[in-house]
Amino acid sequence: MIAALRPHDGGRYVDGTLGGAGHAEAILQASAPTGWLGGGDRDGAAIAAAASRLAPFAGRWELWRGTFAELPQWITSASVDGVLLDLGVSSPQLDQPARGFSFQHDGPLDMRMDDRQTLTAAEVVNTTGEETLANIFWELGEERQSRKLARGIVRQRDRARIETTAQLAAMIEQMAPRRGQRIHPATRVFQALRMHVNDEAGLVQRGLPAVASLLRPGGRLAVITFHSLEARLVKQFGDSTAKAEPATMRWVNRKVIKPSEAELTENPRSRSACLRVLEKC
Ligand SMILES: C[S@@+](CC[C@H](N)C(=O)[O-])C[C@H]1O[C@@H](n2cnc3c(N)ncnc32)[C@H](O)[C@@H]1O
Repeated sequence: MIAALRPHDGGRYVDGTLGGAGHAEAILQASAPTGWLGGGDRDGAAIAAAASRLAPFAGRWELWRGTFAELPQWITSASVDGVLLDLGVSSPQLDQPARGFSFQHDGPLDMRMDDRQTLTAAEVVNTTGEETLANIFWELGEERQSRKLARGIVRQRDRARIETTAQLAAMIEQMAPRRGQRIHPATRVFQALRMHVNDEAGLVQRGLPAVASLLRPGGRLAVITFHSLEARLVKQFGDSTAKAEPATMRWVNRKVIKPSEAELTENPRSRSACLRVLEKC
């Protein structure tokens, strides 16, 4: 990410998915002593954690709570040298049972990145029609047993509301036993619900042009995806802006950059991360 964005003293950078501010901190270090960073995240807990991690760089950053599609409300267009998006869910979100993102911990079926929003995973699981539910599992989770699982969930919820992550994970395991598979049978359904609750694909689609508008000519956009649907949206955005007449962006790396062996050892959760880089014309 640092090699892609090439932060320098005096540069201005935006991290639209601040999370725990690991990338933001590295950008501030690499752009010392005067580089500036604007950080955004829709999760209030991430903003609080980032403010404390970035305290040693006080005066060189500002933070906003909101989606990256809204960044043009805060940042002047064509004014920054680099934008980074590290899509998806963060480790602090996954690891806190109360946030309801993980089938590995029991918690309420919540999954909201922004707790000001009303739609929760419980609401989706308990009120969405069977066919729509199956489509969510298929399109966002690439779950091959989407119809069977949706049918089972609807049958179950007619008896009693499904309220917790453990309840849902156990139901799925019963309907689609593991049979030696490495990943838990609920993995795809949980991913699909999370992406649906947070409208993640919709925000990537609206957010890419929004964040690209913040870049000055020669400024770079670096995007990390974890999901094939998001990767496709980034590729489509890059291809359409690069082929436009006149082109508004050019590919620095259309071919995906994957984590090194060393990074994988240090951070196993990076295993499915794909980095792509574009430059503003
Ligand atoms: C993978 S984490 C980022 C980790 C971060 N790069 C770091 O170094 O710690 C993704 C973060 O993006 C946030 N997020 C996801 N989609 C978002 C969106 N559309 N707008 C703003 N923030 C979003 C999540 O709340 C989460 O905190």
